[in-house]
Amino acid sequence: MSRGFIVTGTDTGIGKTVFAAGLTGALGAAYWKPVQSGLEDETDTEAIARLNAGRDVAIIREAYRLVTPCSPHEAARIDGVAIDLARLALPKTERTLIVEGAGGALVPYTDDLLAADLFAKWGLPAIVVARTALGTISHTLLTLEALRMRDIPIAGVAFVGEEEPVAQAAIAHFGQAPMLGRLPLLDPLTVETLQTAFAANIQLDLLA
Ligand SMILES: Nc1ncnc2c1ncn2[C@@H]1O[C@H](COP(=O)(O)OP(=O)(O)OP(=O)(O)O)[C@@H](O)[C@H]1O
Ligand SMILES: [Mg+2]
Repeated sequence: MSRGFIVTGTDTGIGKTVFAAGLTGALGAAYWKPVQSGLEDETDTEAIARLNAGRDVAIIREAYRLVTPCSPHEAARIDGVAIDLARLALPKTERTLIVEGAGGALVPYTDDLLAADLFAKWGLPAIVVARTALGTISHTLLTLEALRMRDIPIAGVAFVGEEEPVAQAAIAHFGQAPMLGRLPLLDPLTVETLQTAFAANIQLDLLA
């Protein structure tokens, strides 16, 4: 298996962190959110810890914790912080490293660097988390194109949401990437329900 995976997605708020929490737990991995923008609500790193309470995972502190919930380049500007690429180098760990991007694949981190440009520098394969709801076909295929344009290996697509067979089939057909499965919406969302649903629905054996 790869030494790590980037978890990106079609948009913000679509379930990347919940998927990453399941993946981190299933692999006994180390999770890293390089840039957290927005500190008022629970941060992604805190959600990962909550959804893996009692499990053998590692959590690496964010390189940047920015106050405003917007794209990293704007959050950094508002905070008066200059994002230094040297601080965004992948941290060293013996575990599989799960790196969660902010928002979608073409979110700016600085005035001249998009998320996918960083992914290309890191050289890890990307997992694209996609909603199943209306609009997902184009968003997911656009994301795959943007990653491929930068020669970023695609480890697979993982859906989050209710089953939408037509949309999922279209993405599988046109996307030409491993389909890792679909995480249903969990209520309640707990360490146990996530672990069980992740094991039942996500095919980790497809990850190269
Ligand atoms: N499978 C799921 N079952 C239940 N709730 C979910 C699931 N996936 C996501 N959610 C909920 O939806 C909201 C957004 O999910 P999440 O934080 O994982 O999105 P994200 O893509 O990581 O967002 P961001 O771009 O801010 O990092 C959260 O409240 C989360 O608990
Ligand atoms: Mg997140």
